[in-house]
Amino acid sequence: MTHNQFDNKSQAWSALFSEPMSELVKRYTASVHFDKRLWRADIAGSLAHAEMLRAQDIISSEDHRAIDEGLRAVAAEIEAGQFEWKLDLEDVHLNIEARLTQIAGNAGKRLHTGRSRNDQVATDVRLWLRGEIDQISDLICHLQTALLDVAEQNIDVILPGLTHLQVAQPVSFGHHLLAYVEMFSRDGERMREVRYRTNQLPLGSAALAGTSYPLDRERVARTLGMVDGKGQAQLCQNSLDAVSDRDFAIEFSAAAALCMVHISRFSEELILWMSQNFAFVKIADRFTTGSSIMPQKKNPDVPELARGKTGRVVGHLMGLMMLMKGQPLAYNKDNQEDKEPLFDTADTLKDTLRIFAQMIGGQINPATGLAEGGISVNAETMELAATRGYATATDLADYLVKKGIPFRDAHETVAKAVKAAIARKVELSELPLESLQQFNPLIENDVYEVLSLRGSLQSRDLVGGTAPNQVRLQIARHRERLQRQSGVGPASTARPVTT
Ligand code: ARG
Repeated sequence: MTHNQFDNKSQAWSALFSEPMSELVKRYTASVHFDKRLWRADIAGSLAHAEMLRAQDIISSEDHRAIDEGLRAVAAEIEAGQFEWKLDLEDVHLNIEARLTQIAGNAGKRLHTGRSRNDQVATDVRLWLRGEIDQISDLICHLQTALLDVAEQNIDVILPGLTHLQVAQPVSFGHHLLAYVEMFSRDGERMREVRYRTNQLPLGSAALAGTSYPLDRERVARTLGMVDGKGQAQLCQNSLDAVSDRDFAIEFSAAAALCMVHISRFSEELILWMSQNFAFVKIADRFTTGSSIMPQKKNPDVPELARGKTGRVVGHLMGLMMLMKGQPLAYNKDNQEDKEPLFDTADTLKDTLRIFAQMIGGQINPATGLAEGGISVNAETMELAATRGYATATDLADYLVKKGIPFRDAHETVAKAVKAAIARKVELSELPLESLQQFNPLIENDVYEVLSLRGSLQSRDLVGGTAPNQVRLQIARHRERLQRQSGVGPASTARPVTT
């Protein structure tokens, strides 16, 4: 084996230094314990770089072969759990390069030609994040499908729609769930847009100023799939920006944080609906936990934790913004701190989306072979709750408007009717016709249809409204959209897709 600079001195830049790095500083500056998870991206980037170096006659075919085989051997070792990660070698890049050089000798030492860890790590993080975004996009689609399935089963189930947490107007429970489908569809759209700006190649920027070797950056970009919808290579266009930019990480974190915020809103509703005071839904036992002291308890730990984890993901976004704030060009070691928040953001979001898709949509129970919804809806209780609280008062006002009364007057008239109903402890629909006519003589027997929950729903028959007819149309539209998206596949939509 040839001499390896990594063997006898533990640092890649040792020749200049007259004493070894202090142990404490070594631990403080090392990132290998967390950035080793970038190994696939790191090897993919190195394979593409080496292939281009050969194509440009910067290294020989023999050296390229040795590097290529060596990197594949390293990958196999890591995959098999046989790779020894060394803290002394600081990070994933130096660990892999050192092992490659042990395997491939001098050829391994040629790999870093025209490259710096600065453009290398920026490339690795982008490649890794692209893969995460693709998984997240799929999971967002799964969650939407689960919500659509439950919405479809509950088009005609009536929920008291709330504003200020007070009973406002009756809505279809399906319609309510579709509100979340809208939120998650925007999350999916944002992920696709972030993917576009993530999928751009820093390699070739070297340390900060570019390189004097005749690198073919387009070739590397194409090899790594960093291309737009037309197959055009996507290159970072300024070397200083390329090595120091982490906008894509911040944008991703912002998109992830917003998605978690949506999940936290849904979580809050599930928690309320599951409480005895509402009793609108049940969450399957496999998604709930008991109490160690109160035997009767079933707690919605999953939505509660999701609500809590939202804070953590929003915190990572803040952390990343602060990390970049005030950083001078170009690369600074600060940037090494981008990884842990980014990794944790992707992990937390993926786990949360996965568990929510299962909890909402349920799965096939292997014991019975039957599809089991993770949440079951207590339609009667929901509807009963909607009959309380004068949810159709607006409908009565609208009824009077249709008889020619100005809306403000109608509003006032209905307020009086509600007051009378409260005094008698009855609902509006329980007031006899003669009583209602005392508020306005134009009121006729057909008012009772208007005061019914179903009549109220049906009357909101316009785009975006809660009429079951409209809910059905929306479900069909979403299903068609999701079909189209999965047909295209997140991996091949390099350009932002606007739906
Ligand atoms: N581990 C470093 C990081 O994650 C790699 C880049 C190091 N570059 C340097 N000039 N020290 O950012």
